[in-house]
Amino acid sequence: MGSETLSQDSLRAAVRAAGIEAPPRYHASIGSTNVEAARLAAEGAPAWTVVAAGHQTEGKGRLGRRWVEAPGRGLLMSVLLRPRIDPAEAPLISLLAALAMADACRELTTAEVGCKWPNDLVIGERKVGGVLAEARIEGGEVIHVVVGTGVNARMRAEDFPQELRPTATSLEVEGEAVHPALLVRRYLERLRRGLGREGFSPALLDAYRERCVSLRRTVRATTTEGEEVEGMAVDVDERGGLVIETPRGRRAVAFGEVAHLAPEGLPTRPEA
Ligand code: BTN
Repeated sequence: MGSETLSQDSLRAAVRAAGIEAPPRYHASIGSTNVEAARLAAEGAPAWTVVAAGHQTEGKGRLGRRWVEAPGRGLLMSVLLRPRIDPAEAPLISLLAALAMADACRELTTAEVGCKWPNDLVIGERKVGGVLAEARIEGGEVIHVVVGTGVNARMRAEDFPQELRPTATSLEVEGEAVHPALLVRRYLERLRRGLGREGFSPALLDAYRERCVSLRRTVRATTTEGEEVEGMAVDVDERGGLVIETPRGRRAVAFGEVAHLAPEGLPTRPEA
C-alpha cells in the first residue's frame, strides 16, 4: 500500500471503474461508515452508495463488539444495497462480501486470505478483516442492507490492542502491500458480479465453500442464543448456515461464530 491512503478522488475513481454510478462518500474520520450508510439509506440514497473512511471513532464489529483500527491504517468501507431478495437469503450477503474481499486480497497480494465462517477474513488462524452486514427488513421485505467491511491493511503489530495481538494480523504484518483504491475496486467488482438484479450468482455458494477455511475442521459454534454446537463442519447450506456433524446428527447453525478446534478439542489460538 506504500504511503497511499484512500481519498475522495481515489475512491470516486475506484467506484466508477467498478461500474457504479452512485456517488461515493469519503470521510477522513467518522463514527461508523455502517451508521452513515444507514443514515444515507433513510434519506433515499441509491443502491451501491459507498461510504469509506480513513478512521472510525465508533467502528462496529459483529455481535456488539467494537472494530478498532489506527487512523489511516485500515480499509473501512460500507456499501448500501437494495437487493430484491427474500429476507431468509440476507445472510448470504455477508458470505458474498467476505468472499469478494478475500478474493480481491488474494488477487492483489500473495497472502492466502481465507473466509472463517461466517464472515471473518483470516490468514492462517489470524483475523485480517471482517464483515458486518446490517439489514432493514419491514413487512417481510428487505428494504436495504448495509454491508460494511474492515481490512487490517497497514496495521502494525503495536497498533492492535494488547488483547487482540495473539489473534489479529494485517496485510502489512504479513509483509504484503496493497493499493487501497485498487482493493476497493476489485472488491466492488466482485460484489457486483455476485449480486445482480436477479439475486445471487448461482456460483456463490460453491465459491464460498472453496474459500471457507472452517470446512473439514472440528469446530465449536456458538449461536446468538449462546448454545454451543461442536463437531466437524461439513458444509455451508443454501442459506449460508454452517452444517456441523455432531455425535447426535447434523445441525445447521444459521448465525453466530465458530472457534476452530485443535484435534484435542482446544481452540487453536485464544479467541479474540
Ligand atoms: C467483525 O469482524 O466483527 C466485523 C467488522 C466490520 C468492520 C467494518 S469497518 C467498516 C464498517 N463500519 C463499521 O462500523 N463496521 C464495518
